[in-house]
Amino acid sequence: MLSGTGFETVFRDMKAKPTPPKTLDRLISKMGLGSRTEARSWVGASRVKVNGKVIQNPDFWVNPERDKVELDNRPLEKKKYRYLLLNKPAGYLTTYKDPEGRPTVYDLLKGVTDFLSTVGRLDLDTSGLLLLTNDTQFGERLTNPDYHVPKTYLVKAATLLTDDQLDRLRAGVTLDDGPTRPAEVVRVRDAATKTFIEITITEGRNRQVRRMLEAIDSFVLKLVRVRIGGLEIGGLPPGSWRNLTPAEVQNLVAASRSTKGPKPRTHSTSKALVAGATPIEEDEDADDLSEEETDE
Ligand code: URA
Repeated sequence: MLSGTGFETVFRDMKAKPTPPKTLDRLISKMGLGSRTEARSWVGASRVKVNGKVIQNPDFWVNPERDKVELDNRPLEKKKYRYLLLNKPAGYLTTYKDPEGRPTVYDLLKGVTDFLSTVGRLDLDTSGLLLLTNDTQFGERLTNPDYHVPKTYLVKAATLLTDDQLDRLRAGVTLDDGPTRPAEVVRVRDAATKTFIEITITEGRNRQVRRMLEAIDSFVLKLVRVRIGGLEIGGLPPGSWRNLTPAEVQNLVAASRSTKGPKPRTHSTSKALVAGATPIEEDEDADDLSEEETDE
């Protein structure tokens, strides 16, 4: 078992390096305090001071090592990292607020006071495993296709699928945004005029599985994400959430293998890095998911 909360140690095998300057909105968001949009509104509302002086420009550059930044007269403190697994039901949007007032996944997070971003997205009609976190680098690892994290979906196709159609999915099909990577596809069962398959992809393009099925002349009737890496939705009831364990977080990071980014930490490395360490964070390639999400 990891000591402490465990999360502090999971990603810590990088040597401490100086924190580069950031704009105010980005710094606040990077510290897990809110989205960049929220941060910009807080700055605009004169709630943020830099070295004792109110700054109303969210694009103001600060050096986190040198400048004293306060929100509501309190120094910025990094939020504890949090990782949730939600079993998203169909009919909920993966967005923070819907202008039309439709239900969103955040309506299901009663009692969660931390600001969490979704790790990628599921379509309105897709159900199943959705992760939420305030750890932007973790989110980046799981959503950026360069990290090849496998995501598995159970699909109810509208037609009976032939072996040839499944082979086409396996080989990769051409979508309007380019060819897909090879996928793992398992025929689960045929039922009268429909086929159920399990498909595992390592990209997360917008409506990718639905478009892949259309590319083989069928379409999706039902789509459920059942697994990310080795993490299963299991028996978690629809609409419910639970915290991930440190080991689950660690395994997800280990499932990410980058073709260009840093190598994931190994279990033994992480175990050796004990309390007091700061989580991921100082990866300047990690984008703020709340603003620049990769669609799943
Ligand atoms: N692929 C889709 O088509 N939709 C989703 O929600 C997820 C993956």
